[in-house]
Amino acid sequence: MQPRALNVEEGKDLPATTRTTQSRVLPLRILQFFVLFLVLGIGFSVLSMYMIRYFSVQNVVTTARSSFQPCLEEPNSLERWIRPPSSLIHKMSDQELFWRASFVPRVKKYPFRRVPKIAFLFLTRGPLPLAPLWERFLKGHAGLYSIYIHSLPSYDAKFPPTSVFYRRQIPSQVSEWGKMSMCDAERRLLANALLDISNEWFVLVSESCIPLYNFSIIYNYIARSRYSFIGAFDDPGPYGRGRYNENMAPEVNITQWRKGSQWFEINRKLAINIVGDVIFYPKFEEFCKPNCYVDEHYFPTMLTIQAAQLLANRSITWVDWSRGGAHPATFGRADITEDFVKRILEGHSCLYNNQPSSVCYLFARKFAPSALEPLFFLAPKYFGY
Ligand SMILES: *[C@@H]1O[C@H](CO)[C@@H](O)[C@H](O)[C@H]1NC(C)=O
Ligand SMILES: *[C@@H]1O[C@H](CO)[C@@H](O)[C@H](O)[C@H]1NC(C)=O
Ligand SMILES: *[C@@H]1O[C@H](CO)[C@@H](O)[C@H](O)[C@H]1NC(C)=O
Repeated sequence: MQPRALNVEEGKDLPATTRTTQSRVLPLRILQFFVLFLVLGIGFSVLSMYMIRYFSVQNVVTTARSSFQPCLEEPNSLERWIRPPSSLIHKMSDQELFWRASFVPRVKKYPFRRVPKIAFLFLTRGPLPLAPLWERFLKGHAGLYSIYIHSLPSYDAKFPPTSVFYRRQIPSQVSEWGKMSMCDAERRLLANALLDISNEWFVLVSESCIPLYNFSIIYNYIARSRYSFIGAFDDPGPYGRGRYNENMAPEVNITQWRKGSQWFEINRKLAINIVGDVIFYPKFEEFCKPNCYVDEHYFPTMLTIQAAQLLANRSITWVDWSRGGAHPATFGRADITEDFVKRILEGHSCLYNNQPSSVCYLFARKFAPSALEPLFFLAPKYFGY
């Protein structure tokens, strides 16, 4: 630098004899100024970058120390709306929960890759004695299903962290068969499952239910169906229309009165109908009791009125009423033979997407805890899991 600077000074002091020498000196001076500028500029920016980094790091450290939050803030991005709740425990009342669960986006196309899931809703008293079968059925299919369990509030579930049932219990209340509290429990299950925007199909099962096929077959059967599987038929007899109360009109006309088993599979649209219903609920609550068995009529009737064209009108859960009486047969260890399993799987006919099909049931009930061992042994050969 020094000699060059000197040169500049020398050049300045030299008498401007000719235009050529002057024009030679001028570019040199400009160049020298430019280099000086550049060096200063680079030096300054390096210094300031250093300062910014140093001070901002100091800043982050101080904020982290001062706010000291137990969990991170929800990210302020789309993620916030599509990530399922990290915990199923919440403090919402049913009224608050149903309101929240009834949110529907009006733009139908999802602006992200949504993989639709099946939500298995376990309506139980407490323990899940057939859990090992379900664990094996679901193994390897994470991301395609989710689980929600409604049990007696007093029941303390103790599943290990490796289990698919670990921390899948939702805030529950006592529910009784045939009473509105049973429908409340089902709505609670649906509402909690609706909080995960990826849940597209909702299957109600009990602790005595088992899957009859491997996961891929069941997933595809449900995903490709044009209809939701809920039993809904018009029974003219005393246990059907005989349970209709004229006070339900005009919301419910006797010609719209339906009956069906509570073990449904419904899509997201119908689940939102059920959770958001304020028209039929008061009618059923007031006029479908005590020998009306509201859980057999409320959802089949209201969905028939609101969306008949979306219903398959049949259930996909096999159950045996052939022994007669008020309850279906329960099968225990001694019942589970190869012939029995074949009887559940074979000899059915129904419509699937308006075409005749022999695959009509994807689940079966009722199985006692003692049936677990023989079922576990036969499942690989007959159920494919
Ligand atoms: C499910 O069963 C079907 C038919 O038995 C078979 O083709 C398919 O590979 C099985 N899927 C899995 C994931 O085991
Ligand atoms: C029920 O609906 C049918 C046809 O939709 C109608 O003919 C009938 O009058 C209605 N009954 C009552 C009690 O409203
Ligand atoms: C189910 O029943 C309703 C009438 O209750 C009917 O409109 C609908 O088409 C039926 N669904 C199928 C798949 O047949």
